[in-house]
Amino acid sequence: MNYLWGNNTTDVDERVMRFLAADDVILDRQLLHYDIQATVAHVEGLARIGLLSPAEQSDLCTGLDELARQVADGKFVLDERYEDGHSAIEAWLVERLGEVGEKVHTGRSRNDQVLVATRLFMRDALEELVGHCRVTAEACLAQARDYAHTPMPGYTHMQRAVVSSVGTWFAGFAEAFIDNAVLAEASHNWINANPLGTAAGYGVNLLLDRDYTTSALAFDRLQLNPVYTQNSRGKFELQALNSLGQALLDVRRYAWDLSLFTSSEFGFVKLPEQLTTGSSIMPNKRNPDLIELLRATHGVVQGAITEMHAVLSLPSGYHRDLQTTKGPLLRAFARGLEAMSCMPALILSTSFNEEKLRGAIEPAMYATDQAIENARQGMPFRQAYRAAKTDLVDTTESTPEESLTKKVSPGAAGNLCLETLEQRLAKLTRAKVPK
Ligand code: ARG
Repeated sequence: MNYLWGNNTTDVDERVMRFLAADDVILDRQLLHYDIQATVAHVEGLARIGLLSPAEQSDLCTGLDELARQVADGKFVLDERYEDGHSAIEAWLVERLGEVGEKVHTGRSRNDQVLVATRLFMRDALEELVGHCRVTAEACLAQARDYAHTPMPGYTHMQRAVVSSVGTWFAGFAEAFIDNAVLAEASHNWINANPLGTAAGYGVNLLLDRDYTTSALAFDRLQLNPVYTQNSRGKFELQALNSLGQALLDVRRYAWDLSLFTSSEFGFVKLPEQLTTGSSIMPNKRNPDLIELLRATHGVVQGAITEMHAVLSLPSGYHRDLQTTKGPLLRAFARGLEAMSCMPALILSTSFNEEKLRGAIEPAMYATDQAIENARQGMPFRQAYRAAKTDLVDTTESTPEESLTKKVSPGAAGNLCLETLEQRLAKLTRAKVPK
């Protein structure tokens, strides 16, 4: 292998080099098109300060476009011929353009190169996350509307507690995924700063047009200080992972609830056949593997976050350790976004058995309504509570529907305020429509 930094005098130890490269060429496949995009901006920036002639700029940009096309068509595959994606881009340009290609790395280090490519990846990933959260929230809202008047036991401590509704349950998840979308959008804004032009972490002796690359790559702002820019590697990744983790926390909760509700013991929900799998030995079984693997996905993100925290115990500046932040980030987002993409279909096909739900509502579950009603009429609440407790079996007067209609505290079953949630959804600006 030819290394960018090779000097023809020292032989490299291939075994050591293999260890250093690790799975970098495989992982960089996911970052390569971002790296090419940022390289185009870098080249244009160099031309703007006179370091490349218009002809050289044009040759390099045409070459980079061609490489991007080959990458997209699968004609160029990053492999062990290269140390990493960054080396591959330069090698490819040198092979095609000779000396002009050797100019591409002027004023740039692989340290800011990997930062900018990763930043562009994270921006897209977060935008996709916003989109998934939005569609998921919309599915929950649709279900909340449909099931607004369907009674369902409200549990605390896993014990039947009060009458609630399926609509309340769905609206809860709608609000959760709106919050998750808002967080992902905020994280997107937080990390949307341009690291390109900070070089190895100390800037360079050129008046690089960093404002140009900032707008060319559609960053909101410049990430100014070169030392901090290096130090933000992993730190920004953590913020992105945290946003993903928040969404998957709610995926896990939804999956857990369904895992209970689809059991024969509850019988509240039946999943459609295509969302379940069969057993290899038990002909009678349909298994909810989907909800179980959705539940397990939060663990992947949690693992990535833990790995990231461990790597980041470092002093200032670039260290090769930082290369190991790439794997967890890419893995967690691949799996996490895939999980998110299954949610809308799952939510829309979560259909409840109203008879079973009704069967799980006991007269004693009106006791709280009764106590509060007495308090409303003037009895001190503690006395009303005691009275309702003694009357437990006599509180059969109410019906589940009546109990729901009366639960008018904002957000509760009789007053879900779905419009408020719809308005929050409409305010989201960054959302890539999920594929
Ligand atoms: N693969 C490296 C990484 O991800 C690229 C940067 C290499 N920089 C260096 N100074 N060796 O960190």
